[in-house]
Amino acid sequence: MSNVRSEQTDSIGFFGRTTPLDLVKMYGTPLYVYNENILRQRCRELLGLSSLPGFCVNYSAKANTNPALLRIIREEGCHADAMSPGELHINKLAGFTAENLVYVCNNVSADEMRNAVENGLLVSVDSLSQLELYGKVNPGGKVMIRINPGIGAGHHKKVVTAGKETKFGIDLSCMAEVRSLLNQHNLTLAGLNQHIGSLFMEPNGYLDAMDVMLHFVQTELGDLLPNIETLDFGGGFGIPYHKYEGEARLDMADLGARMHAKLAAWVKETGYKGRFFIEPGRYVVAECGVLLGSVYATKNNGPNRYVGTDLGFNVLVRPAMYDSFHDVEIYRENGTPDHELTEQTIVGNICESGDILAKKRQLPCIHEGDILGILDAGAYGFVMSSSYNQRPRAAEVLITADGTPKLIRRRETLDDLTRQFVGLE
Ligand code: LLP
Repeated sequence: MSNVRSEQTDSIGFFGRTTPLDLVKMYGTPLYVYNENILRQRCRELLGLSSLPGFCVNYSAKANTNPALLRIIREEGCHADAMSPGELHINKLAGFTAENLVYVCNNVSADEMRNAVENGLLVSVDSLSQLELYGKVNPGGKVMIRINPGIGAGHHKKVVTAGKETKFGIDLSCMAEVRSLLNQHNLTLAGLNQHIGSLFMEPNGYLDAMDVMLHFVQTELGDLLPNIETLDFGGGFGIPYHKYEGEARLDMADLGARMHAKLAAWVKETGYKGRFFIEPGRYVVAECGVLLGSVYATKNNGPNRYVGTDLGFNVLVRPAMYDSFHDVEIYRENGTPDHELTEQTIVGNICESGDILAKKRQLPCIHEGDILGILDAGAYGFVMSSSYNQRPRAAEVLITADGTPKLIRRRETLDDLTRQFVGLE
């Protein structure tokens, strides 16, 4: 293919039998493109982390809820979590059933808990106050609690979800209160979960937090162990976003060996017969997604060269929200690979100065008419997009296993923007 910068997607045949330029002609931009083979490969890597019979990969659906992807993830044998009625609804639409779903929620209403219970889901609550509410909603039922293991991790302070600076989890010192609420409402403690944060590239923190939970269950909740059916260690498995700099991947063989040994030893010691969950979102879907956008303008402002695109933070908010880095590829009709680099800042078409997709990057010179590919956009991409500035949301396409593209979400229209307004007649 004749592209200016495309080694990463070329090396894995990301676009199958089509090209970014063909896709743009067919579907327009902004366009989220997913690759089925990569998605399946990531599911299999995770499922292969341990061969223990109770080991499950519980896909954290918040990362991407397109039902076409959810179906593939289900077919591969993963379970899924839901954290809102909307996620539960979409998971069911994709064929997940109560047996392979858990409700991992935070600060929800009685109605929402009731909805999850009526759908047959095991619910995880993450405060004493929510445990009390759950006891009223489902007295005599089963419940999971989310603990705060005290160890946090993550790529940005906004995604660290354990330790002292977070709203999540029940402190380990609160077990007397937990037991009292369980007794008061005749609840069975059926599981524990935790999630230390999002994106680790070095697994020691995750493995240490696993130890914390296992030790805690064994020492503090040993009498309740026969009823505990699920221990969920959460997600956070990172992916290399700096691919053009050769960033190393998580060593899954090493992680799997250590995780498996730990869990197998614990089962042997305790006689535990339940399930072990890991709950990855990003690792499953990030790398199977590339976001395509169009370049409409370029300008120099003093020393800064700006590249104006249709990839505003309404389309991909991660860079604006967390200063996240995504690699950029450049596709051009009859373009040739170019290794001469210029500093450029890629921006969107939203009325805010913070509408920056990629800041001061050394890239081949980008021109009007080029198509950009934003790598690793499959996780927390489309799901966090919005119609800010009243721009309809992007379309989504799947490159199926045989390399052909299939539309899996049509582009929103102006009518989609206005259909919720009432009283316009
Ligand atoms: N389990 C729970 C309870 C979670 O809250 C999350 C993510 C996960 C699992 C999956 O974490 P993952 O494996 O994807 O790291 N929007 C941010 C990430 C927020 C993560 C929220 N919770 C981003 O774009 O980086």
